[in-house]
Order: sequence, then structure tokens, then C-alpha cells
Amino acid sequence: QVDESKEVESIVPSYACQRRTTLENHNTVFTDALSLLAENAELSDEDGRGVAFRRAAAVLKALHSPVTDLLQLRGLPCLGGHSLRVIKDVLENGASSEVECTKQSERFKALKVLTGIFGVGAKTAERWIREGIHSLPQLQDSAHTLNRAQQASLEHYDDLNQPVTKAEGDAIGEIVEKAVMSVLPGAQITLIGGFRRGKLTGHDVDFLITHPEEGREVGLMPKVVSWLESKGFLLYQKTTRNSYLESKDGPARPSSNMDRFERCFSIFKLPEDAKEGTKQTETLTEETPEDTGRLTTPSLVKDEGSESTKRANLKPWRAVRVDLVVSPISQFAFALLGWTGSKLFERELRRWAGHEKAMSLSSHALYDNTQSKYLRASSEEEIFAHLGLEYIPPSERNA
Ligand code: GTP
Ligand code: MN
Ligand code: MN
Repeated sequence: QVDESKEVESIVPSYACQRRTTLENHNTVFTDALSLLAENAELSDEDGRGVAFRRAAAVLKALHSPVTDLLQLRGLPCLGGHSLRVIKDVLENGASSEVECTKQSERFKALKVLTGIFGVGAKTAERWIREGIHSLPQLQDSAHTLNRAQQASLEHYDDLNQPVTKAEGDAIGEIVEKAVMSVLPGAQITLIGGFRRGKLTGHDVDFLITHPEEGREVGLMPKVVSWLESKGFLLYQKTTRNSYLESKDGPARPSSNMDRFERCFSIFKLPEDAKEGTKQTETLTEETPEDTGRLTTPSLVKDEGSESTKRANLKPWRAVRVDLVVSPISQFAFALLGWTGSKLFERELRRWAGHEKAMSLSSHALYDNTQSKYLRASSEEEIFAHLGLEYIPPSERNA
């Protein structure tokens, strides 16, 4: 229903879940700058500032043309003074001095390197930096004992910090499908996260598993994990049980943001030939310019290595982060909506529900505080309808 005329920009609604945000971004120069400041804030335990920058970036992502003048931003929501200063700087000087300064700061660089280890959050990284640990070799030389997730992630650091392609995601999907089908025929597997939104790369691959008969999904995860382990597909896994049924507080009011589905954080060992076995359409090889242009990740190996030594060192597999979630069919629509993202879109949906509708939305349920009852839904469309929102398909949730 959105009118494509010029006027549209002046009526950008303020919640990201009211807007259609595709992957086509006409303002990357601004959104990259704001996203970097958001990341820096989040890594510095300043979540409020982080969200403000994320919201500002999301508004610019939703525009249909590039911003060339500050005047074009009049009337747009979520653009605070700080974000406007950054945009102004980029418009006038081609770059934001604050962003350039942050990028080059030792602190930011160290935070990035250390939180590049899966299982290392901002707080841990901060503590290590205070102790003078700024790099991976320094971390390894320190007396710190790492937990299992951190060890596994450090071991596969370069692989895990290299974007996962859609082709790799599809190859993992086939493996997961085989695993699930052999332990529970009739179960259903859905690709969630960034790939469901149409992204071409991601930091991991996410899957939601359910069964059309309520209850049949109970105990599924350990079986899937055993199958995968027996076939040598897992480098690391940590399964957390479903704590939803045994918890006392209402499902829509979880004590934390973390939901309580049976869930598995894992690192897959993806054979290179498994990738070739799937769709050949956009298979990226190691030499694509796009790939070499990616954010340089610090290598554990001191020697940078020429193209030929890199090739000689090529393993016949690569490590990929994979998230598996199991949901009962009665909660499937909520899980699907909650795990498709983007993170900001999800946050905004919950904010909309709470502030505008007096409802509590989680990945398990939707509770209407006015009527004091749960609202059922068997599709994402129904949840949007309950929330009084126009339905936004996954490809337009890239806020
Ligand atoms: P890339 O992986 O970088 O492509 O982005 P992504 O959008 O797939 O992000 P990610 O895999 O981190 O998360 C996917 C979605 O799942 C996001 O919308 C998150 O908000 C959501 N999510 C991640 N972890 C949790 C969690 O512990 N609980 C809940 N409820 N949602 C989560
Ligand atoms: Mn993901
Ligand atoms: Mn994930």
C-alpha cells in the first residue's frame, strides 16, 4: 500500500516494524558510519546509544533514494542530534571524523578482535583489554582458561570470521535435513535468520525445526546432534534444553531476552565437496574479489602467506557457525517471527507491542495485557494482524 511517490519520505513511520526495508540500501555511506558507531557503543556496554544509532541507520535504509542534503531529512523520525552530526560530516567531508577515529582506535580494534571469538562478549573483552590483552596471540600467552565454546571458536577463528555464503548455507541445510529426517521423519525444517530475509552472506546459518503433531518434537535435538556427531559434521555443539514448560512465569514475560526453546549452538565441519553438490548458480570461489576485500581478520598464523601457500593450506572443509532451534508447532509462528530478524526489526516489534498495544511479544507467544489472555496464531500474518500492523514479508525486514 506504500505510495512510491516522493512524498513518502516525509511520512516514514517511526517503528521499523511499520516499514518495508529491503536489502537495497541507497545510503550505505551513512548507514555504515552509523552502524559502526552502534557497534562501538554495544561493545562498550552502552546499549542505549547503540539502539539510537541502529534506529537512525534503519530510517536511512528505508529511504528510496540517496540523501544528498540535510534538508531532505526534515521530518524523519529517530534522527537524533548525534546521528545528524555524523550524517552532516559525511555529507560535507566524505567521511565522519568520529567514525574514522573510532575505527583506528586501539580499543575498538581490540574489542573487535576479541569479540570475534564466539562466546566472548563485550564484558569479557573489556576485562581482557584492561589487563593489556589486545590480540589473539596475547590472549593465548595469557594465563586465561577459555571455556569450551571460546576454545573451539578460537581454533577456527579465521573460518568463523569469514562470511558464510548462501551456497554454504544451502549445503548445511541439506545436511541438517538428512539428520532430522533420519531421526524424526515428518519433521519440518525452516531456514531462518538473515538467509530467510534474502541476505547473500551471514555470520552463521539458522534453522527452526518443528513437527506438525504437537509433542513429537520433544527430545528431538539430542537425537539430531547425535546423528550429526556420528557422521563427523560437528566441531562443537552446546545444546540447551527447553526450559519453557517447567518455568513458572508466563511465556510472554521471560525473565531475559533469551528464549527457552531447545536450542543448539554449533560449529559445523562443512566439507568443500558438500558445497559443490548443491546449486551451482552463485558458487563463490576463494579468489573472488569480494572475498579478498572483506574485513581483514587477524590471522593466528603470523605469516600472512602468499596466495599459493594459502592454497596449499586449503583444508578440504571449513568451519561454519550453525544455530538450531526446536519449537512445538503451537509456537512455531512466534518462533519463526522471532528468529527471522533483523535484530532491530525484532526489537521494534516488541517495543510496538508493549508501548502501542499493551501486549507482550516473545518467540513463544503474544499476550494481550488488556484482555489478560494469550492470542493464538499459526502464521506470521496472524501475528502482524493481532499487533495491528501491516504484514511485512521477511525480505522487507532488513531494518
Ligand atoms: P547473520 O547471521 O549475521 O546473517 O544475521 P542474522 O540476522 O541471521 O542474526 P543472528 O543469526 O544473530 O540471529 C537471527 C535472529 O534470531 C535475530 O533476529 C535474533 O534477534 C534472533 N536471535 C538470536 N539469538 C536469539 C536468542 O537467544 N533468543 C531469541 N529469541 N532470538 C534470538
Ligand atoms: Mn544468522
Ligand atoms: Mn544465529
